Amino acid sequence: MTGSESPTASQKIVNSWNEWDTLRHVIVGVADGCCIPPSEPASEPKIPTDSDMRGMHGPRPAETVEKANAQLDNLARVLEERGVKVDRPTPLNFSQAIATPDWETGSMFGCMPPRDVILTVGNEMLEATMSYRSRWFEYLCYRPLLKAYYEQDPNMRHEAAPKPRLTDASYKKDYLSDDITMEERLRMVAAKDFLTTEEEPLFDAADVLRFGRDLVVQHGFTTNLKGIDWLSRHFPNHRVHAVDFPGDAYPIHIDATFTPLRPGLILNNPERRLPDEQRAFFHRNDWEIIDAARPMHNSPPPLCYSSVWLSMNILMVDPKTVCVEETETAQMEQFDKLGFEVLPVPFRDAYPFGGALHCATTDVYRDGDCEDYFPKG
Ligand code: ALA
Repeated sequence: MTGSESPTASQKIVNSWNEWDTLRHVIVGVADGCCIPPSEPASEPKIPTDSDMRGMHGPRPAETVEKANAQLDNLARVLEERGVKVDRPTPLNFSQAIATPDWETGSMFGCMPPRDVILTVGNEMLEATMSYRSRWFEYLCYRPLLKAYYEQDPNMRHEAAPKPRLTDASYKKDYLSDDITMEERLRMVAAKDFLTTEEEPLFDAADVLRFGRDLVVQHGFTTNLKGIDWLSRHFPNHRVHAVDFPGDAYPIHIDATFTPLRPGLILNNPERRLPDEQRAFFHRNDWEIIDAARPMHNSPPPLCYSSVWLSMNILMVDPKTVCVEETETAQMEQFDKLGFEVLPVPFRDAYPFGGALHCATTDVYRDGDCEDYFPKG
């Protein structure tokens, strides 16, 4: 290509600046071979003491994989029917043990939630550091797709954050002792005393929300301050905002807590409210933050890492259309009243494999450019 030629529209594969513009191309995860990894320093805290997952590890039962895949395939079909191009990752043998020079662990995790691993910002797809040993190699499932986008789109930036060492120094010792009461745990998260240390930059992509020029990043168990600092140095044309949600005893990924729906409107989990001093930034820029509807379930499905608040882990198909889990009728009603078209899809069988509709997807292309939605800074 000579200097005067620019890529044609048909060569532009990767472009997504926010969570709501019209979706044209997306990656939907697959459940094949997904494992419950053995315990490791990062995962202990995520499994509540009374969970049915305590002490379990190994490949998930085949019939649950089949059911999850049926719902993932259905999501892909629903999106394709609306004209969205859908790609799928390539699973690895997740049951194999993995090692680096610093550690070894008995298995990997899976590739159902692409949102956790790949962060798309404009024309860039960035592989997150990740913060679990079992998820260290998960980016490999997305490499065939990212390689193809890179080859087809001359402007696509394929980036990878520095791989972390994830030695024991990256995690606080005894942080998750069973002796710690829920009250104490909530006090700890309110004081921003999280599981991960500041040994090295750590972030999972699902702790990041994209609002055009602004990136909003949850500081918690899976993303530390060095990870947020790394993101702000990596994206010098963005403003990067650290947020935290004191009501969340296990702050892992922002997308069952804070959900932008369209310019000016965000759903917030009423049990994990954004602190007032952090709200000021949104309010002075005329953004409204409203409480999400209560979930319809008292507990997540069996062998699930996430909370019932996956009810608000939705996928915006365009600024007026939202894809919601079909049993979450209160959430659907709230969206209806807010003027959205609601696309219900069954998805609870996929939850245990890594979350709901936002987790199970990652953007490749949405219409639109990098806008400034917060002109008052
Ligand atoms: N950590 C989030 C939740 O389960 C996904 O609520």
